[in-house]
Amino acid sequence: MDLYRPIYHFMPEKNWMNDPNGPIYYKGEYHLFYQTNPNDYHWDTMHWGHAKSIDLVHWNHLPIALYPSNELGEKHCFSGCTFTNDQGIPTIYYTSVGEGQRHQSVGAEQWMAVSHDDMVTWEKAKNNPRLTLDLHENMDIKEWRDPFVWKDGDNWYMVLGGSNDGNGCVFIYKSKNSLDWKFLNILYETNKYKFLECPNLFKLGDKYVLIYSPNDMVVYHTGILNSDFTFTTEYQDIFDNSGWEGYYAPNSLVDPNGRRVIWGWMTEASRGEFKGPLGWAGAQSIPRMLSLYNNGKLKIEPVSELKVLRAEEKLLTDVKVNSENLKLGVQGRALEIKAEFELNGDEEFSIQVLQSKNAQEQTSISYNVINSELTVDRSKSTLSELPHKSKLSASLYLSKGEILKLHIFIDHSIIEVFANYEKCISTRVYPTLDDTTGVTLSLTKGIELNVKSFTIWKMKSIW
Ligand code: FRU
Repeated sequence: MDLYRPIYHFMPEKNWMNDPNGPIYYKGEYHLFYQTNPNDYHWDTMHWGHAKSIDLVHWNHLPIALYPSNELGEKHCFSGCTFTNDQGIPTIYYTSVGEGQRHQSVGAEQWMAVSHDDMVTWEKAKNNPRLTLDLHENMDIKEWRDPFVWKDGDNWYMVLGGSNDGNGCVFIYKSKNSLDWKFLNILYETNKYKFLECPNLFKLGDKYVLIYSPNDMVVYHTGILNSDFTFTTEYQDIFDNSGWEGYYAPNSLVDPNGRRVIWGWMTEASRGEFKGPLGWAGAQSIPRMLSLYNNGKLKIEPVSELKVLRAEEKLLTDVKVNSENLKLGVQGRALEIKAEFELNGDEEFSIQVLQSKNAQEQTSISYNVINSELTVDRSKSTLSELPHKSKLSASLYLSKGEILKLHIFIDHSIIEVFANYEKCISTRVYPTLDDTTGVTLSLTKGIELNVKSFTIWKMKSIW
């Protein structure tokens, strides 16, 4: 049995997966495409894998949607999006990449494909490329990729990521017919990052949200889309404080209930040279729903559909923890934990998950009230020296009397932590012992910890 393979996070049956691509709700079903190498469990020959779901929880695998057209010099079908065009035809836009002059850094093109059988098979357009770097005249654009398309009024819009003169950029385009595109502007530019990947731009309430992956932790901005197609930021933060250690390249859809649902690639970089899991690499995060708090902060929460996976439950209410560790009883490598804490001002405490009997292996999820710091400490996650062991952290400021709510999803090698539905840390761990299944709560500083409630569920498989 594979100790590391998640059971309730979306994955292909085998081989490599990276970014979620073109998620779309179509004819009563959620479709998720993804970057995959169907021949190996390392990144190479990018195809688009495909799966669909009625309930956002259980998935059916479908045939590969896009293959690289080697006869046209295409080596990879990079990330992109899916929409239905004005004629109701399912359409993919993606980044086509080859070698030499068609290399991803200098020669990427944006290609289109359509489906005439409800998205089972896809045909590439006869007149690809649909967009080339020539659209921008004298600009020095590199790493140009990852189209994201939407319709507003009578017009279609697209954003693409990349760099201009070495600055990370999101570029914006417009089309009347979703075929012929005009460059509008640099929507957003920063010298903090060399290039930006996988931009998403969408309306949430009366604001716009811009999300991008800058080869580092994913960033979001909320603010205004100006009439000259630049973006004014009113609020900005890290979307998930893990980056290459666990969460990258998210992509989103809007469903018929108007919900914005987003998945991110749970990268496998933390494995390092560790050879535990063989034959597969990469999972998608659980689907998260986005909304806005009043101050422009993003509210990020697991979709409620996931509750169907809850099996055996253990609930504790109004418990006081002092110097003794509290062993929570429920054991497992696939768990959901939801807990609320009433804090006094000087506590530091940890929830140890994936803890072996003798605590040789454990991952600590801690909150320190004085520093307002949430951390996931992986220094003891595994006895192996090979996986990454760094500590991941996020600042979470609580106002006086505010309850700390932690919502944690554990799935073999995955840990996703939501703190007050405004901070996320999502990472990977590779514990080696069979009995690394325990959960313990401990107070490390302060006199007493008030646990309002602490619930653990064993989670069922989605397959
Ligand atoms: C992000 C990314 C995208 C690109 C894809 C290639 O992880 O680099 O920018 O389209 O992966 O697989």
